[in-house]
Formats: sequence, structure tokens, C-alpha cells
Amino acid sequence: MTAFSIRRLGADDARAACDALTDIHRACVADGASVSLMADTPREAALAFWRGVAEDVAAGGTILIVAEDGDCRALGTVQVCASGKPNQPHRGDLAKMLVHPRAQGRGIGAALLAAAEREALAAGLWLLVLDTVPGTAADRLYARGGWVPVGVIPDFALWPQGGLGATKLFYKDLRG
Ligand SMILES: CC(C)(COP(=O)(O)OP(=O)(O)OC[C@H]1O[C@@H](n2cnc3c(N)ncnc32)[C@H](O)[C@@H]1OP(=O)(O)O)[C@@H](O)C(=O)NCCC(=O)NCCS
Repeated sequence: MTAFSIRRLGADDARAACDALTDIHRACVADGASVSLMADTPREAALAFWRGVAEDVAAGGTILIVAEDGDCRALGTVQVCASGKPNQPHRGDLAKMLVHPRAQGRGIGAALLAAAEREALAAGLWLLVLDTVPGTAADRLYARGGWVPVGVIPDFALWPQGGLGATKLFYKDLRG
């Protein structure tokens, strides 16, 4: 079992990580995960998404966390995006929880989730919201982590190969 470590990235490291995070994102999609991209979304479009994330990190609105192996290669990632709304200074969205299919099932997702919650709370974001596909490993991960399910929206998004799937909304109040 490969050891891993968890790290929050600053803007320069986030920019440098875009290629690796694009590869993890696309590997998860190729493995069947419904995470924004379609199976035939060009790599350039995925890379542009991650470059945008890096600029959001630079602007201070996004917390970007990675899991790395002993050679500093990225294995997984997660973000907390501040709502940015004047009336929701305490709220963020947990987004793009992704662990490379080859590295799944070793506790990396749980460690990323714990780190995201820790960093969010430290930044004053004590109410987090997310959505995920019901019945998946992610659904179980959030339930284990004490996230509160709110409800399921049918036909929310397309699967990578097409066909509509549901999403399940969760929130977690980190003040407790
Ligand atoms: C959801 C996701 C991030 C979880 O990442 P992960 O690193 O596999 O998460 P964990 O290892 O903490 O937990 C996964 C499973 O491994 C098990 N596990 C954790 N450590 C383990 C270990 N040392 N030995 C054996 N099993 C272990 C967990 O109990 C869990 O079991 P379950 O699937 O039966 O509930 C990953 O499956 C993923 O990237 N999925 C595709 C993208 C996606 O859907 N993201 C969610 C978007 S909201």
C-alpha cells in the first residue's frame, strides 16, 4: 500500500498541478464517475477548468487540497469554494473530490475530506454544501463523515457516456 500525504496548495503550486489534476479528473471520468466532464470532453477543456481553479486559488476564493505519494505525485484532490456572496460569508461548496482510480480504497478520500473540513473551518467557512451521485463510494464517504443528506434531485446530470442520473444534496455544519 502506497503511503500518501495531504497538502493545501498555494497559487503557484496550484498552477503547477493543473496537468496532474486534469489527468486524475479524466481518469475518474474514464472510470465512469459523473464529475462535470463527459467521456469525450477534450483534454484542453478539462485543463482549462483546472487553470481556472488555480486562478480562483490565487484570488483567495478557493481552497485546493491534494493527496500525494512519496514522490510528490498527485493521487487525489478536493476543493472548498467560498460562496462569495455578501450574505453567505460563512458558507462554502465542497467540490471535485477526486481520487485516481488506481489509488482508491486506501483512505485517501477520507483524509482529503477531513483536511477540507479543517481548512474550511480555519477560513471561517463553517457551513459546507455538496452534491453527489446516490449509491456511489462518494455517497458513502460523506455519510460516514457525518454529512447530512437533504434530498435527491432526479435527472440532475449526464453520466460520462450519456443518460441522466440523480444527485443527492448534503450539508455539514462544522461548528459542532
Ligand atoms: C469518492 C472517492 C473520492 C473516494 O475516494 P477513496 O480514496 O477511494 O476513499 P476511501 O478510501 O476513504 O473510501 C473508499 C472505500 O475504501 C474503504 N477503505 C478505506 N481505507 C481502506 C483500507 N485501508 N483498506 C480497505 N478499504 C479501505 C472505505 O471504507 C470505503 O469503502 P466503501 O466504498 O465500501 O464505502 C473516489 O471513489 C472517487 O474519486 N470517485 C470518483 C469521483 C467521484 O465520484 N467523486 C465524488 C464527487 S462528489
